Amino acid sequence: GFELELASSGRVIPVAADQTALAALLAAGLDIPMSCEQGVCGTCLTGVKSGVPDHRDQYLTPEERAANNQFLPCCSRASSARLVLDL
Ligand code: FES
Repeated sequence: GFELELASSGRVIPVAADQTALAALLAAGLDIPMSCEQGVCGTCLTGVKSGVPDHRDQYLTPEERAANNQFLPCCSRASSARLVLDL
């Protein structure tokens, strides 16, 4: 697993190995827009302020992936222990 930190509040939300980042955010009470839940539509796109996403979507371009400043929490995870999100 890994952790998500909300930049606005400093709140830390753990993501279990068998849970998506989106599921963890929703369970924590955040209102994240979503649709496909398969990394295709881009609806759940969330800004990343620090940390390294493990991009597993089919939506971002290679350049967008490399910038490490946004990710799709319905399918993507983290390569670093924590991602600080623009939430
Ligand atoms: Fe479609 Fe995340 S809900 S990419």
